[in-house]
Amino acid sequence: MDRVLVLSGPNLNLLGTRQVDIYGLATLEAIHESLAKLAQELGVAVDCRQSNHEGELIDWIHEVRESHVGIVFNLGAYTHTSIAIADALRAISLPSVEVHLSNIHAREAFRAHSHTASAAIGVVTGFGPASYTLGLRALMDYLGRSNQD
Ligand code: DQA
Repeated sequence: MDRVLVLSGPNLNLLGTRQVDIYGLATLEAIHESLAKLAQELGVAVDCRQSNHEGELIDWIHEVRESHVGIVFNLGAYTHTSIAIADALRAISLPSVEVHLSNIHAREAFRAHSHTASAAIGVVTGFGPASYTLGLRALMDYLGRSNQD
């Protein structure tokens, strides 16, 4: 079965208790469960990982370059700072979708810029936990279309 890496970056392990006015009450574990359910419907397997460490996120991106068919990623604050992760995404040939729980364009100005968005097919931002499932749907839709070429 095809596998998709779902990558979450720093502080996302604290979802459910972290700034709930912005990020809501859903835990990352609950988000992973809804992704697994959707993945089953779509006939794909999800491999959900979270790290607070930039290098580990980069290592995982390298690791899946031949074993997985795509990546859904929420890099947390590394979105706005990490040229290294953006380079890692560009260094592999897998399609990816960037997701954010909050609408990064409706917050502080520094959040509006993403180093990594231009390495992705597209971005889903502002739909809470549904950003992850919408991101997975978008990736699978893209893969279905590119396989028809
Ligand atoms: C976030 C938005 C980022 O700006 C922030 O640093 C996060 C979470 C989101 O999902 O809304 O950690 O990626």
